[in-house]
Amino acid sequence: MSSTPFRLALLDSKHDRAAFNSDSEPLNRYLHTQATQDVRRRVAACYVALADEQRIAGYYTLASASVLLNGLPANIGKKLPRYPTVPAVRMGRLAVDQTFKRQGLGGALLADALDRAARAEIAAFAMIVDAKDDAASAFYRHHGFIALPDSPLTLFLPLASVQPSK
Ligand SMILES: CC(C)(COP(=O)(O)OP(=O)(O)OC[C@H]1O[C@@H](n2cnc3c(N)ncnc32)[C@H](O)[C@@H]1OP(=O)(O)O)[C@@H](O)C(=O)NCCC(=O)NCCS
Repeated sequence: MSSTPFRLALLDSKHDRAAFNSDSEPLNRYLHTQATQDVRRRVAACYVALADEQRIAGYYTLASASVLLNGLPANIGKKLPRYPTVPAVRMGRLAVDQTFKRQGLGGALLADALDRAARAEIAAFAMIVDAKDDAASAFYRHHGFIALPDSPLTLFLPLASVQPSK
């Protein structure tokens, strides 16, 4: 990760959401206007990397999800029980502020999300992500994610392949 000592925390009202400015306007708007409400309604958990007490350098969201068994690559699906869906954790959003990008923070946030999902007491087969475009998809593939055959901007990573921290 970057030499800047980021602190990971759950999104809180004292964090400065309005100043957050990544390359993605929809992801900025989500943090500015929607994230707090989603957290309150328990439709997403939102974790932030803080550069100081208030400054948000990056964030991601997690929520439970499911994947159609038939949507997985055949070599993986055939090893799973014949239920219509398998449980998953969705990282719905991931963004890094322009000031802090290309310093390893996006990778560190992704690793933190995977660790959290791999340590969770409630089982999930995989983390899934919806890449917003080809560049985001390339970022996830760089980190080992595999695209769903019929939905190439949806990618997954089996959580059994993640070594959880203690
Ligand atoms: C995508 C994003 C989160 C990456 O964050 P970042 O902090 O700049 O990325 P990092 O510095 O942690 O890069 C980590 C690794 O991914 C690689 N990487 C970064 N962006 C990449 C891309 N578009 N394609 C392929 N690899 C990429 C880096 O080379 C680096 O590789 P390394 O670990 O081998 O050195 C950030 O650019 C961003 O917020 N983009 C706008 C929103 C977005 O696209 N979100 C993605 C989810 S839809």
